[in-house]
Amino acid sequence: MPQPRVFSGIQPTADSFHLGNYLGALRQWVTLQDTHDTIYCVVDLHAITLPQQPADLRRRTRVAAAQLFAAGIDPDRSIVFVQSHVPEHTELTWVLSCLTGFGEASRMTQFKDKAAKGGADAASVGLFTYPILMAADILLYDADQVPVGEDQRQHLELTRDLAQRFNHRFGPTFVVPGPYILPEVAKITDLQDPSIKMSKSASSPQGIIDVLEEPKSVERKIMRAVTDTEGEVRADEQAKPGVTNLLRIYSALAGEPIAALEQRYAGSGYGAFKKDLAEVVVGGFAPMRERTEKLLANESELDQLLAVGAAKARKLAVPTMDRVRDRVGFLPAR
Ligand code: TYM
Repeated sequence: MPQPRVFSGIQPTADSFHLGNYLGALRQWVTLQDTHDTIYCVVDLHAITLPQQPADLRRRTRVAAAQLFAAGIDPDRSIVFVQSHVPEHTELTWVLSCLTGFGEASRMTQFKDKAAKGGADAASVGLFTYPILMAADILLYDADQVPVGEDQRQHLELTRDLAQRFNHRFGPTFVVPGPYILPEVAKITDLQDPSIKMSKSASSPQGIIDVLEEPKSVERKIMRAVTDTEGEVRADEQAKPGVTNLLRIYSALAGEPIAALEQRYAGSGYGAFKKDLAEVVVGGFAPMRERTEKLLANESELDQLLAVGAAKARKLAVPTMDRVRDRVGFLPAR
């Protein structure tokens, strides 16, 4: 029995992944290796939908890959590759773009948010078609499930719609994938503003914790995280969003239910709770920091792992693209 297949991607747009990326996605990527056929991609083509310095992009692509391996993605069990190494992603994007309504693409909330931030006229056509490239990523590999955070749900709905539309118009071709979103960690919020998600583009440096961050800095940020004046360690999404977010992070990293944490810190105030949480975060990320540094110290070995990953990915992507060309009616190239 072949295992169901998982595909997911992450952008190389920062010098480290953050806590939201880790809890919302990466951790599930690691555990899914036990039960699924897993394919993970560093999506550099998505990264250039916003301006990137070439040297930064190159460095961050390696840093991203190193963090994936350091987190526990095993290159013998998973396919790990860089998106631009497999040209079929862009080719399928074109075909899917021709099936996507202009109005349909205009409704994507992430595009609207990102475009509004830079001024609507500054947004590129690439940013507009970003979700179609994401659909191509997923559909090329016949993925059954896509582990992501809540912010990607709408993009996955578009992916499903496009798969169904293509299948309906041209005959069964694509697997229609489903989201794999864990509600407890689907939206880790900003430490300074719990009304927004923790995000490399929207959060202030104080609101975001990086996986590769210095322990001292992590401690400072957690101690200063916004809470409320009640002083009680208790989860309440509406009344206590800051404390609830901290409880979620603690619970996920320590593997303890929120109710157990509420009980342990009953009557002890926020200080002791935050101090322990800082320890859990720092301790949790220490091995990953160390392993990332080691992997980055040997760039050619890392590049070799990615070359092997790209070759394996292409073996799957090429036949899908052949199928698509045939279904659409393109004359075979001799
Ligand atoms: P990206 O690079 O912005 O984020 C990577 C993953 O982290 C999740 N995430 C969060 N989860 C919980 N709380 C948060 N505060 C938080 N912030 C980020 C994201 O949901 C994501 O799962 N479009 C994607 C990359 C992509 C992709 C794909 C994903 C490209 N092609 C194909 C899946 C399948 C993105 O920008 O992720």
